Amino acid sequence: MAELDRTGAAPAVPADWTYAPAPESKDIVHLRDRYGLFVGGEWIEASETYETISPASEEPLAVVGQATAADVDRAVAAARTAFADGWSSLPGSERAKYLFRIARILQERAREFAVLESMNGGKPIKESRDVDLPLAAAHFFYYAGWADKLEYAFPNRRPKPVGVAGQIIPWNFPLLMLAWKIAPALACGNTVVLKPAETTPLTALLFCDVLRQAELPAGVVNIVTGDGRTGAAIVDHDGVDKIAFTGSTEVGKAIQRQLAGSGKKLTLELGGKAANIVFDDCALDQAVEGIVNGIYFNQGHVCCAGSRLFAQESIYEPLVEKLKRRLETLRVGDPLDKNTDVGAINSAMQLDKIRELVQSGRDEGADIYQPPCRLPEKGCWFAPTVFTNVAQSYRIAQEEIFGPVLSVLTFRTPDEALEKANNTPYGLSAGVWTEKGSRILWMAQRLRAGVVWANTYNRFDPTSPFGGYKESGFGREGGLHGLEPYLRFDE
Ligand code: NAI
Ligand code: MG
Repeated sequence: MAELDRTGAAPAVPADWTYAPAPESKDIVHLRDRYGLFVGGEWIEASETYETISPASEEPLAVVGQATAADVDRAVAAARTAFADGWSSLPGSERAKYLFRIARILQERAREFAVLESMNGGKPIKESRDVDLPLAAAHFFYYAGWADKLEYAFPNRRPKPVGVAGQIIPWNFPLLMLAWKIAPALACGNTVVLKPAETTPLTALLFCDVLRQAELPAGVVNIVTGDGRTGAAIVDHDGVDKIAFTGSTEVGKAIQRQLAGSGKKLTLELGGKAANIVFDDCALDQAVEGIVNGIYFNQGHVCCAGSRLFAQESIYEPLVEKLKRRLETLRVGDPLDKNTDVGAINSAMQLDKIRELVQSGRDEGADIYQPPCRLPEKGCWFAPTVFTNVAQSYRIAQEEIFGPVLSVLTFRTPDEALEKANNTPYGLSAGVWTEKGSRILWMAQRLRAGVVWANTYNRFDPTSPFGGYKESGFGREGGLHGLEPYLRFDE
C-alpha cells in the first residue's frame, strides 16, 4: 500500500492505459504471387485474372483467376469424369476415410488457415481461430461419420448420389461455407465444382493443398475462382445436377428463376433480418452479451445476425444503457490483433452499402449511437452502431444491412413481440431471452424462423440443421437434413 500511496510526480495508477497490440504473425502463411484454377487435381492457368486484397490494409495479396464459361466447362467435365470413374461407386467407408483425413489436416493446419482467413476477409483472428476453423473441421468429421450410414439414415429409400454439385459461396465465412458445402456432397458420393466469393478466394485455394495432402482422387473437388459471371456459368451448365447457393436474396431469386423447369436440384441459403427478443425477466447482463455477439460478431456480416433488437418496454432504458456502455469496450481494428473484437468490413462495396443504409436511418429519423473509437485510416472500417427510436417501416428495420448496425425496437406483450418479429420477408433465425422455459417454447413454436436460439445467440453445430423460411431460402445444411439435398431416392 505504502508504495501505491506515494503519489509524487508519477501517479501510482497510470492515467493513460495505452493499449499494447498483440498481433498474430503472418509468417505461417506462404502465399504464391498467382493462383490458377484447381481442375482435375491440377492447377490450370486462367485466361483472365484479378487481384485479391486485404480489406484491412488494402495491400494486394495475390493474383487469382477469373474463370470463364470455358474454364467452368473444364471443371464440370473433370467432376463428371471423377464421378463416373469411381467416386460415386466407392464404398461409403472409403469415402469417409478421405473426409476424416481432410478434417484432421484442417485441424493440423488450423493456425495457417485462420491467419489467411483474417488477412483476406478482415475478420478478427480470435473468430477465425476459435469459430471458423474448429467448425470447418467439425463439419468434415461429422459428415465423414455419415458416409457409410446413408442406408440407415434413410431406411428403405435406397439413397444414391445426385452427380455433380455446383456450389457457390459468400465471403462472410469463406472456409466454413466451403466445409458446409463440400463435406455433405462428398459424404453422399457426389463430385463438386465450387466457387468462392470474389473477395475471399484464398482459403479455398489453400484448401486445394489439403485435398492433395489427403490424396483425394483427382476431379472429385474442383475450385474455380471468379465473380458472379463465373457463378452464373456454373448455374447454367448442363453437366451440373445440383446447385447449392449461399448469398444474397437477389441472386438467389435469379438462380431460382434460371433453374425453373431444368430438373436441377436447388438449395438456397439467403439473407436475414433476425429478431433478438429480450423479455424483462431475463438475465440482463447475459442478454447484453448475447445482443453484442448477435450483431457485432464478424462485423455483422452474418446472415443470421440479430440485427433487430426487440426490448420489452419495462427494461428498455437499462438495457440500452448497458448496451451502449458495453459497446465502448469493443476494440475495432487490425484483424490480426488477438484482442480485436470488430475487424475490417469485407469490401469497399459492402462498406458503401452499410453507409447508405445508415444514412437512410438518420434521414428517416432514428437516433444513432456510435462509441468513441479511432478507425484506421486505410482500409474498410465501420464503427459499431446502434439505432434507437426506430419504426418498423424504416429501411434499417426492414432490409439486411450485413454490417455492425443494430436497430432497437420495443414491445409490451409476447403477442406484440411475435407479430413484430415475424413482420419481415425473411425467416432465418431468432433469439429469445427470458427466464421462463414455457415462454421460450411458446415463442419458438410461433416464430417463423429456421433457427431459434434461447438465452444464447449464434451457436453453431454441424449436427444441427440450419436454413430459412420465406425469402431466407429453402433447404437445410447441417445434420441429417443436410444430406438430403445431395441424394436422390428415385429407384
Ligand atoms: P452475392 O449474392 O452477389 O454473392 C454471393 C456469391 O454469389 C458470390 O460467390 C458471388 O460471386 C456469386 N454470384 C453473384 N452473382 C451471381 C449470379 N448471377 N449467379 C451465380 N452466382 C452469383 O452477394 P454480394 O453482392 O457479395 O453481397 C450483397 C448483399 O447480399 C450483402 O450486402 C448481404 O446483404 C447479402 N449477402 C448475404 C449472405 C448470406 O450469407 N446470407 C452472404 C453474402 C451476401
Ligand atoms: Mg452481388
